[in-house]
Parts: sequence; C-alpha cells; structure tokens
Amino acid sequence: MKDTPPKIIYAPLAGCSDFPFRKMAARYRPDLMFCEMVKMEALMRKVPETYRMLEYDESMRPIGGQICGSKPELAGPCAKIIEDLGFDVVDLNCGCPVDKITKDGSGSGMLKDPGRIGEVISNMVAAVKIPVTVKVRAGWDEENINAALVTEIAEKAGAKAIVVHGRTRQQAYRGPANWAHIKAAKEAAKEIRVVGNGDVFCAESALRMFEETGCDAVLVARGTMGQPWIVDDIRRALNGEVPQKRSFEECRQALLDHFTFSTKHKSEHGALIDMRKVCCWYLKDAPGVRDLRKKASHATSLDEVYELIHAF
Ligand SMILES: Cc1cc2nc3c(=O)[nH]c(=O)nc-3n(C[C@H](O)[C@H](O)[C@H](O)COP(=O)(O)O)c2cc1C
Repeated sequence: MKDTPPKIIYAPLAGCSDFPFRKMAARYRPDLMFCEMVKMEALMRKVPETYRMLEYDESMRPIGGQICGSKPELAGPCAKIIEDLGFDVVDLNCGCPVDKITKDGSGSGMLKDPGRIGEVISNMVAAVKIPVTVKVRAGWDEENINAALVTEIAEKAGAKAIVVHGRTRQQAYRGPANWAHIKAAKEAAKEIRVVGNGDVFCAESALRMFEETGCDAVLVARGTMGQPWIVDDIRRALNGEVPQKRSFEECRQALLDHFTFSTKHKSEHGALIDMRKVCCWYLKDAPGVRDLRKKASHATSLDEVYELIHAF
C-alpha cells in the first residue's frame, strides 16, 4: 500500500467486480479496489468457486478482499486466509441486505448486534498485519440508525476505516442515500477513517460528498459500472480540472476491451453471459442499446458478439 491513505476506492460488487471488471478498473489506478464479497464458511470449506472470485493480478493493487459472516470464531482464520492470498486490505461486510445473507445475522444483519461487529473485527485484527476495515449501512431501518455507534465500536476494535453506505437495510437500493449518516459517523470518529458511500456517479457528486460529509475518502460502486475511468474524473475535479469527455467510440472500445478480458478469463458461456449486462453499462446512453442487449442475449458465439458490438 502507498503511504498516503486511499481517497477514491472502487467497491466490492457481487456478480460484477470480477477479474475482467477489475482489469478494466486497474487501467485507471483507483487508490484501492475490492473483489466481490466471499462468505466466511465458503472460504473455510475451500470452495473452488469462492477462491476463483478472489483471483487478481499485480496490476490491480492495492486490492482488498471482503469477507461476509457473523461467527467471531471464523473471523480470524478467514482474515488470515485473505492476508495469505496476498491481499492488501481485508474488509468485513456489514451491509449486504439480501435475506439469505441476513437470516443468519450476516451482512447488514450484523447491524442488529453492534457488539458482535466489535468482536468479529477484534478477531480479524488479532489475526493479520494488513489493515482491517468494515463496510456498513446507516442502520437496519430508520428507527435503528447506528452507523455512528458502529464507527466508535469499529475504532475501538482496531479497524482502520469504516465505509458508511447512507441507506438503511430496509431501503435496500430504493431512494437516495442519506449522507447525513456519513457526516455523523465522521463526527463520531477519532482516528478511524470514514469513507462515504452512496450515489456517487460522477466527479461532481464525489466533490459534494467530500464537502457535505467531511469524509476522508469516497467509495464508488454502481458509478464504476461502464465507467472504469471515474477515478480519473474525480481526481481531475479535485484538482479543479474538467473531467475528460468520453466519446461513443471510446466507450465502444472499452466495452470491446472488457469483453476481451472476459473471454480470456472465463469460459465461452461465461463471457457470453457477461456481455448481457456489460454492454448496457458502457453504452447506456447510446440509442438502440436495448436492441443490442437483446441480440447479445441470443448470441451463441464470441465472434457473433464482437460483430454485434462493431456493427452497433
Ligand atoms: C450489483 C451490486 C453488488 C453489490 N455487491 C456488494 C458486495 O459484494 N459487498 C458490499 O459490501 N457491497 C456490495 N454492494 C453495495 C455497494 O458496494 C454500495 O454500497 C452500494 O451500491 C451503494 O453505492 P452506490 O450508490 O455508489 O452504488 C453491491 C451493490 C450492487 C448494486
């Protein structure tokens, strides 16, 4: 890791921030990027698919691994596995809203038991030398907002940073993120770095996030989809420069490059499935993209997809 702490971070995105996605992101050198979350139990059971999700190459550094689970006794060994795989940071997921994750108290389910968050983080910190971080939502629901309290708990447990997503679990992804909860977490923090997250889709919103919340860094999630260069836009804006405009041709080329990384890293079937979502990301503003998506969904060979994108 560089001496200066990360300021612009690319988020963990289950089903999205895979190897090809991170190859594209690496071109623009975010200060830190994350793999998709992995479950503690799957790490312990050595599930091959889980380890495949954690594959990376040197161009992606600094890179973080994120673990999800609620059992304090698994936290230390799992953090150690992430460290031994060579990751620069290990993060604890306390934000995932999906029922199948929260039903055993994992993900955002952890927000119902802040003491357990402290216990899990302490065990991670005791097991590794790399920085331990945690990613939370504002709270379980509007009646139970506790990101500021969890910030204090995480700091005491030894976490170096806390990412606060300004939505509650109940909100899932509906409505805007409430950045006031990020500000409150920053005010509760002494040494721990507070990373703001939620609705940063362009350089301007990143600047506003810094200004309105006083956060130390921003974590960009959906804004990285089809915009692997968003870190460059944000850096320029922070320096008072205008973000570079990307032409349609540049977006098409980026899509082709993403597709090429997919074909190298995945089976033909995997790359074909990938293209169904990825083509919409890069060309979302272009007229006719829905038709392209439809055609790409029916494509049966890689050549066919290349032709579709070239002809678009
Ligand atoms: C498709 C998708 C997958 C996600 N996967 C993860 C994940 O694996 N771990 C995590 O902590 N958050 C995950 N999130 C949440 C994001 O990291 C982020 O907190 C949320 O999208 C809000 O940020 P945004 O408004 O910049 O998108 C995911 C979000 C989306 C949309």
